[in-house]
Amino acid sequence: MEGFDASSYGESFADVYDDWYSDVSDVEGTVTTIAELAAGAPVLELGIGTGRLALPLARRGLEVHGIDASPAMVDRLRAKPGGEAVAVVVGDFADVAPRVEGGFGVIFVAYNTLFNLPSAEAQRRCFANVAARLRAGGAFVVEAFVPSPEPDATTGTVTPSVVDANRVVLHVTRRHPATQTVDGSIVSITEDGIRLRPWHIRYARPPELDSMAAAAGLTLEQRHAGWRGEPFTSASTRHVSIYRAPA
Ligand SMILES: C[S@@+](CC[C@H](N)C(=O)[O-])C[C@H]1O[C@@H](n2cnc3c(N)ncnc32)[C@H](O)[C@@H]1O
Repeated sequence: MEGFDASSYGESFADVYDDWYSDVSDVEGTVTTIAELAAGAPVLELGIGTGRLALPLARRGLEVHGIDASPAMVDRLRAKPGGEAVAVVVGDFADVAPRVEGGFGVIFVAYNTLFNLPSAEAQRRCFANVAARLRAGGAFVVEAFVPSPEPDATTGTVTPSVVDANRVVLHVTRRHPATQTVDGSIVSITEDGIRLRPWHIRYARPPELDSMAAAAGLTLEQRHAGWRGEPFTSASTRHVSIYRAPA
């Protein structure tokens, strides 16, 4: 997507993120699962954002670290109660991850955030960097949607979500099946002007993620359809996958 980089999503959504997405995924289930897996060891969240998941995790007494490319998202996290206790690095999670003595017990990337990495190559690099920063037997947890089979020739959509007398909001997407990418923008139009909130994802099916993990030396240990142990089946639309580093 022309003009879009690692910080673009966060920079354009930070002002509305907590209002729009506070319950976009299962916070309680995520926090419980990650805390159990960590068993007191340090945890790293990739794409930590405004701390929607990291802050409740830190409140459970865990040492929580994060990385995010968007200073605007990180500023919001730091301004919240408890935000100063979370160690955050501003950077691209494909390349950089904080280090802790002995390695992280758990690294996780929630709610489709892995797909914010724009190419298969960046996603592979992410798996390799994660593997290098986990302690022996540590877990990498990925939550993502299961992409549906490639659609027919219809690759673009425009869906209105608000049509008021003084404001229109359009959700615009264009899908590129050959590269498994989707370009999108939430376009708010008022008499004062137009506000674009762009996003871009590179989606991957679970078997592709498993082979990226295997190439990094991580083994799939469990896959569920959610954070509460829901069985994963061929009809599941989401997955929570737990990969393990060698003991
Ligand atoms: C959908 S938000 C998720 C935030 C948080 N994990 C949550 O669940 O609420 C995605 C986050 O990933 C960050 N992000 C996207 N691409 C990134 C990249 N390549 N490197 C680091 N952070 C990135 C964005 O700035 C944003 O804060």
